[in-house]
Amino acid sequence: MAKYLTLDDVQVKNRVVLVRVDFNSEIDQETKKVTSDVRIRAHAETTIKELAEKGAKVVILAHQGRKGDPDFTPLKQHAEILGKILKCPVKYVDDVFGDKAKNAIKDLKAGEIIVLENVRSWDGETKSGTPEQQAKTELVQNLAPLADLFVNDAFAAAHRGHVSMVGFTAVLPSVAGRIMERELKSLSKALEQPEKPCVYVMGGAKADDSLEISKYVLGNGIADYVVVGGVTAQLFLAAKGVDLGKENMAFLEKKDLTGLIPGIQALMKQYPQRVVVPVDVAIDVNGKRKEIPVSKLPSEHSIFDIGAKTAENYAKLIAKAKSIVVSGPMGVYENKEFNYGTRKVFEAIADSKGFSLAGGGNTIAALQEYGLSKKIGYISTAGGALIEFLMGKKLPGVVALENAVKTKKI
Ligand code: 3PG
Repeated sequence: MAKYLTLDDVQVKNRVVLVRVDFNSEIDQETKKVTSDVRIRAHAETTIKELAEKGAKVVILAHQGRKGDPDFTPLKQHAEILGKILKCPVKYVDDVFGDKAKNAIKDLKAGEIIVLENVRSWDGETKSGTPEQQAKTELVQNLAPLADLFVNDAFAAAHRGHVSMVGFTAVLPSVAGRIMERELKSLSKALEQPEKPCVYVMGGAKADDSLEISKYVLGNGIADYVVVGGVTAQLFLAAKGVDLGKENMAFLEKKDLTGLIPGIQALMKQYPQRVVVPVDVAIDVNGKRKEIPVSKLPSEHSIFDIGAKTAENYAKLIAKAKSIVVSGPMGVYENKEFNYGTRKVFEAIADSKGFSLAGGGNTIAALQEYGLSKKIGYISTAGGALIEFLMGKKLPGVVALENAVKTKKI
């Protein structure tokens, strides 16, 4: 039996379909406007288009930000963007499950699409719980009786056991949308049985996430090598006993990262050949790049990139790999003086004949800047959900879909 059902398993014509998508986008702090339509476009061009073309009555549930955060906005503009992408009218309803929302759902005709208000404008949404618990909430009690089917397409929010993510699966036939399906299939390629050799490239500043992922993929024989860049690399070097210099060490302390050092040391002890760290770094001398070997550290200058020799070493490993996962840049890639390492390593990934998978906001932005996006096997739309998936964690949104297969008839 399939782990979860998909749109291939259901008839949707004339049926009311509740679709949970992840429209959560970057928002300009001043204008409150969406600055990147990547997520909206992904759902629009796949699941939503397909459902509307097949004659479903499409009801979209989504969130944007969290109450109290600057990116918490209504979904009116998201509905407008969706309409523009699909080139068809999309109605926005400023209500989640009150009479306005219910009447709009009842009035829907085949092929029509409505977007309900930001589901997080209802305080109950963000409380985590099991599908059975969440099915008893106002949101599910009010909307489920009006719907025939639940489609969860929000892989990027699947690490949240929130009401709209799992509650409907306890009471409605439930299937994965095309984005959910695509993400799970692609990520499984990188995590379940990756073709070997498999290299994980862990950069960026989230060293805690990088460490957890490294432990999981090395401990479970998934990755053959973990190569590190960015702030993560600095911390790994410090864990090896390298004195980075006062400024650099203070930076790691300030970011509250030094507590991770014992865990990194244990990992390196267990896999001395598999954890690969820089042999040289680029430091910032009055705004200019200067490369020095790691043996010449400590330095009073900030480390902002991996060095050329390290980039070459990483590129060689990547060239031999059949599967590559990349999360995070190798340095301060936004600054031209310090983008060399990121560019070289990302170019090597793009040139690889193996399967490559990339995720994370900065990684995607850097790939786009270098014009490499099209040469990557799969770019995930997810942030936190991707990280948790790569750590081997079960995502509540996915588990709920898998359990729905066992309990509900379509
Ligand atoms: C994301 O952007 O990672 C998801 O939409 C989840 O958002 P959250 O971290 O606010 O729950």
